Amino acid sequence: MTKTKLGIIGAMEIEVALLLEKLENRRQSAVAGSAFYEGTLEGVDSVIVQCGVGKVNAAMCAQTLCGRFGVTHLVNTGIAGSLCAQLDIGDLVVSRDAMYHDFDCVHFGYPYGRVPGMDVTAFPADDTLLAYAFAAAEMVNPGHTKVGRIASGDQFVADPAVKQRIVDSTRGLCTEMEGAAIAQTAYRNGIPFVILRAISDKADDSAEMDYPTFEKLAAHRCAEVTRKLAKHLREAEEAEEM
Ligand code: ADE
Repeated sequence: MTKTKLGIIGAMEIEVALLLEKLENRRQSAVAGSAFYEGTLEGVDSVIVQCGVGKVNAAMCAQTLCGRFGVTHLVNTGIAGSLCAQLDIGDLVVSRDAMYHDFDCVHFGYPYGRVPGMDVTAFPADDTLLAYAFAAAEMVNPGHTKVGRIASGDQFVADPAVKQRIVDSTRGLCTEMEGAAIAQTAYRNGIPFVILRAISDKADDSAEMDYPTFEKLAAHRCAEVTRKLAKHLREAEEAEEM
């Protein structure tokens, strides 16, 4: 049985700070300008990285976690704008899958969002990680978690018309700037992944007001869920060892 090694990616400092505080036996190294922190989180061997904002930063760090650090599972934690009236600030989203909202090769006959060479448009999350993440989210904020699609792109969405276009083209529950790139990297490496997001704003003309107010609450909530997810992974590992 391969021992679990959990790769955790957050874009911004606020998204990883709480997790880094809890990481035991912490060792730091730098790859391509990003700091990677190895250690133990809730008894699970883990590597945490703050990747920076956007798809390229996210994919670079996800690949480093898979290739150089040999992680067995990938979790992306952070905040997102809601694309769905039932998802309010502080609510949680667990990915069923993730797709790009800004990838367009429709001209060549590909479905909107599909990257040529890929056999899927939305990259599916791992069922087991999804179940652990959902259970963890329900512990942190009971009755306020939805499972569905994450729509990612290199754009902070704060315009109702842009939001509507993303809803229509992706049917996503929330939008952010890294998830699908991490999902694609995981998919290509055959590594199970899940994305966990807490809502910081409504991705419309209220986003400018809401985002700075709720960024911290949402980011911390998500980090808390990630920690509990690590605990579920450890318990599963221990049960298998018995
Ligand atoms: N992350 C948090 N809110 C966001 C938004 N409205 N658009 C893109 N990324 C986000």
